[in-house]
Amino acid sequence: MSEWNASAERELATPGPLRPRRLRNSAAMRELVAETTVLARQLVMPHFVLPAAKANEPIPSMPGISRTGVDDLLRAVESDHKLGIKSVLLFGTPPAGAKNSTGSSASDREGAVPRAVRALRGAFGGDLVIMTDVCLCAYTDHGHCGVLLDGAVDNDRSLVPLAAMALAHAEAGADLVAPSDMMDGRVGALRSALDADGFTSTGILSYAVKYASAYYGPFRDAADSSPQHGDRRSYQMDSRNSAEAEREVKLDEAEGADMVMVKPALAYLDIIRRVRAVTTLPLAAYNVSGEYSAVKAAAERGWLDEAAIVRENLHAMVRAGADIVITYHARAALAGRWI
Ligand code: PBG
Ligand code: ZN
Repeated sequence: MSEWNASAERELATPGPLRPRRLRNSAAMRELVAETTVLARQLVMPHFVLPAAKANEPIPSMPGISRTGVDDLLRAVESDHKLGIKSVLLFGTPPAGAKNSTGSSASDREGAVPRAVRALRGAFGGDLVIMTDVCLCAYTDHGHCGVLLDGAVDNDRSLVPLAAMALAHAEAGADLVAPSDMMDGRVGALRSALDADGFTSTGILSYAVKYASAYYGPFRDAADSSPQHGDRRSYQMDSRNSAEAEREVKLDEAEGADMVMVKPALAYLDIIRRVRAVTTLPLAAYNVSGEYSAVKAAAERGWLDEAAIVRENLHAMVRAGADIVITYHARAALAGRWI
């Protein structure tokens, strides 16, 4: 049969009730039925802080992101605040020559992070949520996230300097300390230390589900925090595991975490979904450095449309179940109205 047969087409066509395309007919219709929204209030901008007042060092492997001194940080956070970014996560850098085996400069009250926290708190009061990364790797001379005993990271010994670091951040005025070291029991240890010193209202955002990931590469350049020997596989999670994520979240919740995080995000959307189902705590997804840099590199070459990719990725993390997204794309996404 070569002639077009309109009555046959009518007979073969899907009956009326089974036409999902009706809900995609126009942009207005698609807006009406969209299931996911990413709002500025959900985004957290990470910052790398240098122990200086004035400094601005672009990070080559993370185009658009700099390591800044405290004054430059204040200016960046002020302009981000106008875009709607009301939360920051701070990473510190010790002064030159300060690294040692226990990372003792991590709890220095005059260190980059406590100084930055005081300055931000002074400028913004309660209008900014200040989170601080608590980990030793940028402060130890061996680059591991804890302290070593016979060449291996010793869990319980590491809790002491980690708790001291959290206290220095709490004292400076952090809202949430965010332990990223992946030692067992660190949420409980931080909670006891904070409470014992009267910081009962300082919260803990636990990097509960943090995988040993190659996606942290650019961050380690930025923070100068690469392990000098070995890797982090004896404390960070194995990327093949999923049930283990539930165990980690349940433990951290029992130890007193106020929020939990899954990290990285995009290669772990199934984990975000799984964790979402087992906790009612606020859930953060960390869209890490390598995920950022991969998008930036492809966009620079004209291989990907940065705005469209970032929008799609942000929607994916929230659709999977994240309440909060920590992302280096936050500023550009809001400035460019990508979401
Ligand atoms: C420190 C820490 C890392 C990240 C956050 N905190 C690196 C690591 O564990 O090696 C990664 C963040 C990113 O890649 O954006 N423990
Ligand atoms: Zn670390």
